[in-house]
Amino acid sequence: MIALSVLVVALSILSTLGSQLTSRSPSYGCGTGISPAHKDAFEADFAARRTGLAVKNLKHAAATKFIPTYFHVVRSSTELSGGNVPDSQIATQMAVLNAAFVNTSYSFQLVETTRTTNKHWFETASNYDDGIDSQTAMKAALRRGDAKTLNLYSVGFIQGSAAFFDLLGYGTFPFHYNDAPEDDGIVFKYSNLPGGTNEPYNLGANLIHEVGHWMGLYHVFSEGGRGTCDGSSDLVDDTPAQGYPTYGCPERSKTCPGFPGDDSIHNFMDYSTDDCKNNFTPGQVERMAAQMGVYRGI
Ligand SMILES: *[C@@H]1O[C@H](CO)[C@@H](O)[C@H](O)[C@H]1NC(C)=O
Ligand SMILES: [Zn+2]
Repeated sequence: MIALSVLVVALSILSTLGSQLTSRSPSYGCGTGISPAHKDAFEADFAARRTGLAVKNLKHAAATKFIPTYFHVVRSSTELSGGNVPDSQIATQMAVLNAAFVNTSYSFQLVETTRTTNKHWFETASNYDDGIDSQTAMKAALRRGDAKTLNLYSVGFIQGSAAFFDLLGYGTFPFHYNDAPEDDGIVFKYSNLPGGTNEPYNLGANLIHEVGHWMGLYHVFSEGGRGTCDGSSDLVDDTPAQGYPTYGCPERSKTCPGFPGDDSIHNFMDYSTDDCKNNFTPGQVERMAAQMGVYRGI
């Protein structure tokens, strides 16, 4: 009887995971998302507050705004395979990150690297409500600074849903800061760092993508219903309508025939491989400046 109920629970977990799997993208594990209702509410708030501020923020674009950055290495051991990434990989990641934001007025400055041995956090931290997720405890212990501070957590995604879905990373949006300051930041897989083992996502672009979310960007493809060709779903005018995420690095892709422009396969906010990604558009740069000004005060 006991064995049977365990089996039933196990089967129902499996079928839940299975149905999530079919509704999730097959091979790029970005876990950053927002429900349509939340998105509508936040975007209405943003539209009301950005008037004047975006212009002001852009006018001063020449002056570099430094974002203090804390890099929290969460490891299961002092081996590299336990997530103990060397300072050299972190330095390369910071350089790659700053190169990607060259057209913005923001620059990320590493103020401190912390190293914490905690096998449980390393293996289970995630933003899935799967009963073993430990990100709340991890962030409560390690997070530093305020809305203007970037907190990065490198972990393993070894157990639970994060491992099952092969998660690469996830971040929080600027407009979530007021509701959940303790949750703010980016959690990602340590082997994504430049020189890491997580090919083809080991050139540093996943962190750039997550920082894009942290600065207020959505994905370039339609999120609220794949294939819908809603060109304004990312609230940015110069990214063409794109029905589906891009995987790998095709020469060209057009998932919305009849709409102007090709898919943004080289944009940091698509799902293409790291070597394929190389730009933010001027519209995205403007949205980031406005989101940062309104919700992070910088
Ligand atoms: C910076 O802007 C130039 C000119 O618009 C563009 O060609 C380049 O791709 C941009 N770089 C990035 C990293 O977004
Ligand atoms: Zn994403």
